[in-house]
Amino acid sequence: MLRVEHLRKSFGGVVATADVSIDFPAGSLSAVIGPNGAGKTTFFNLISGALKPDSGQIILNGENIVGLSDTEIVRKGIGRAFQVAKLFKSLTVEESLRGALLSTLGRSLQMHGRFPLVQTHDRAWAIMEQLGLASKAHVISGNLSHGDQKLLDMALALVLEPKVLLLDEPVAGMGPEEREQMIQTVHALWKKGGLTVVLIEHDMDVVFSISQTIHVLCYGKLLAQGNADEIRNNPAVIEAYLGTPREAHGG
Ligand SMILES: Nc1ncnc2c1ncn2[C@@H]1O[C@H](COP(=O)(O)OP(=O)(O)OP(=O)(O)O)[C@@H](O)[C@H]1O
Ligand SMILES: [Mg+2]
Repeated sequence: MLRVEHLRKSFGGVVATADVSIDFPAGSLSAVIGPNGAGKTTFFNLISGALKPDSGQIILNGENIVGLSDTEIVRKGIGRAFQVAKLFKSLTVEESLRGALLSTLGRSLQMHGRFPLVQTHDRAWAIMEQLGLASKAHVISGNLSHGDQKLLDMALALVLEPKVLLLDEPVAGMGPEEREQMIQTVHALWKKGGLTVVLIEHDMDVVFSISQTIHVLCYGKLLAQGNADEIRNNPAVIEAYLGTPREAHGG
C-alpha cells in the first residue's frame, strides 16, 4: 500500500529524516512515535507532499509519488489531519467540509461531469454523522471546542475518501473524555476496513492500546519497530525516552 524507502530530509544542518524506510501494509493501523523534534511531523510532511525529500522514494500502490503536489497526493488517496488543526475558522462545519470537497476535487469532477452539489451535501453529512459532528453542522469552526476542532480537521481529510489517513497527534491537548472518544472514533473508522491509518502520538497508552505496529523515530532515524511489547521492552527506545523530559514526565 504505502512504502517509504531511504527517505532523507535536512534543514540546514538538522537531519530531520535520515534514511528512513518503512512499510505500511494495506489496512494496517500503525503509530510513529519519538521524542520532540524526532522528525515525526516532517515525515508526514514528506508523505503528504508539503515538503519534498532530498532523496528517497514514497511508493503508493506501486507508484512513486515524490514530486507530486500536495493536491495531487490528496487525489491519489492520502489524507492528513494536522498537529495543529488547519481550519477555515469563519466557516461552519458543514461549509468547511463541502468547501474542502469542492476545492480539492471540484475541477477534476466537473470535467468528468459528475458530482453535483447535492453530493457534497450528502458526503459532508455522512462524515459528520460518522464522527459525531452532525449536531454541530452549523457551528462556526472557530467556535468549536478544541476536541471538536481536531475532529473536524480529521473530517476534512476523511470527506475526500482517502485510502491512507495520516493523523498527527489526534488527541493532543484533549481532556480524558474527549481523548477516549477520539480514540474510539479512530479505532472504529479503521475497523470498518479499507483504510490504512498512521498516527503520530505522544500518549503511550493510546499508542500501545490501538497500534498493530509501532515505528520509533529518534533524531530522524528509525530506531526500532515492532508491536507494543517489543517496543516497550526495547532498551534503545527506553533510553531515547528517558533522555527526554516531556516523555519522562508523561506529557
Ligand atoms: N520547516 C522547517 N525548517 C527548519 N527546520 C525544521 C522544519 N521543520 C522541522 N524542522 C526541524 O526538524 C526537526 C524535526 O522536527 P519535526 O517537527 O518533524 O519533529 P516532531 O517529531 O514532529 O516533533 P514534536 O513531537 O515536537 O511535534 C526539528 O529539529 C525541527 O526543528
Ligand atoms: Mg510534530
